[in-house]
Amino acid sequence: MQVLLTGNRGYIGTVVTEFLSSRGIRVIGLDTDYYRDCDFLDLPEPVQQIYKDSRRIEKADLKGVDAVIHLAALSNDPVGELNEQWTYDINYHASLQLARLAKEVGLPCFLSASSCSLYGISSADEKLTEEAPMAPLTAYAKSKVQCEESIRPLADAKFAAVFMRFATVYGVSPRLRFDLVLNNLVGWAYATGKIRILSDGTPWRPLVHVKDIAQALWCVLEKPPRGGCEVFNVGDNNANYQVKELAACVQKTVPGASIEFTHEHGKDARTFRVDFSRFHRTFPSFRARWDIAKGARELYEVLLQKKLRFEDFDGRRFTRLKQIRYLLNQRRLDEGLFWRH
Ligand SMILES: NC(=O)c1ccc[n+]([C@@H]2O[C@H](COP(=O)([O-])OP(=O)(O)OC[C@H]3O[C@@H](n4cnc5c(N)ncnc54)[C@H](O)[C@@H]3O)[C@@H](O)[C@H]2O)c1
Repeated sequence: MQVLLTGNRGYIGTVVTEFLSSRGIRVIGLDTDYYRDCDFLDLPEPVQQIYKDSRRIEKADLKGVDAVIHLAALSNDPVGELNEQWTYDINYHASLQLARLAKEVGLPCFLSASSCSLYGISSADEKLTEEAPMAPLTAYAKSKVQCEESIRPLADAKFAAVFMRFATVYGVSPRLRFDLVLNNLVGWAYATGKIRILSDGTPWRPLVHVKDIAQALWCVLEKPPRGGCEVFNVGDNNANYQVKELAACVQKTVPGASIEFTHEHGKDARTFRVDFSRFHRTFPSFRARWDIAKGARELYEVLLQKKLRFEDFDGRRFTRLKQIRYLLNQRRLDEGLFWRH
């Protein structure tokens, strides 16, 4: 099987490339590579790499492909807020265009990365299923809703559209990120001895390990739906945590680290718990193999091994907003967020 994987040079994409390749799937990667000088570990090589902006994908890029996994996006709230038009164009419009092309060339299956953050705020008592109302709070989350809603009507008996609403991801990746909550807490604790919580620690978050995401995508490729539109929350029912539980876990992982609550929510007022039963029911072979204790320990050990310095932790290499700002300031990206050549 040959899969076009967009965003293959990102945090999740590098892990997915490795996972699928090791299971005999031929991965064709497509990425504009905004994070080209931000490696943490060696990157896995797909069988073919297309360096291209998703807004410029053509039918020819889908030649010989059996399915598409679409990860390429401006993929968090701070980057999504930089310029809403970019977020709209890349996350929504280019995704719709790619889905249309996939259908036109007769592909049976289009898998798209969506996000649990499109649920916005919920009551802590209620676990959100896929039927819960969407209440996106940011340009990023809104773009994921637009993406789902615009692609859904393309689905029919011959063309399956699958939206994977990932929980917040954590864990080691060749393109590591510290702008994700658990990675950030481990990174801070490692680099400063402090676990800094920008709230009172009560907000809820669903979390999932990056390798479990790869496994989930593989499960869908193995048993793709025969047409229609499917939406799945991707994570585990045992993995909804209050931020203070994450802090306690990191404190156990990083010797001597102290916890500090700032009691400011900043711009991020989200709190939500998510129900992941549908994915587990539909793909019974899927099992979350990671939990936060194991993931935090793995990350901490790799940081020690790599002797990461505070400047590395705090710099642009592992924080998406800083890298994109850097490329704009250096005039390497133009006003449309395309590379200047
Ligand atoms: N990381 C999470 O916690 C999380 C949670 C929910 C959903 N998601 C979704 O999963 C997907 C992957 O996320 P990630 O964490 O790996 O993000 P990432 O930012 O690490 O990687 C995204 C990749 O897409 C590429 N890209 C961005 N815009 C592009 C464009 N216009 N053309 C071609 N390539 C482009 C980037 O160069 C990068 O390599 C995204 O769609 C994101 O919204 C991530």
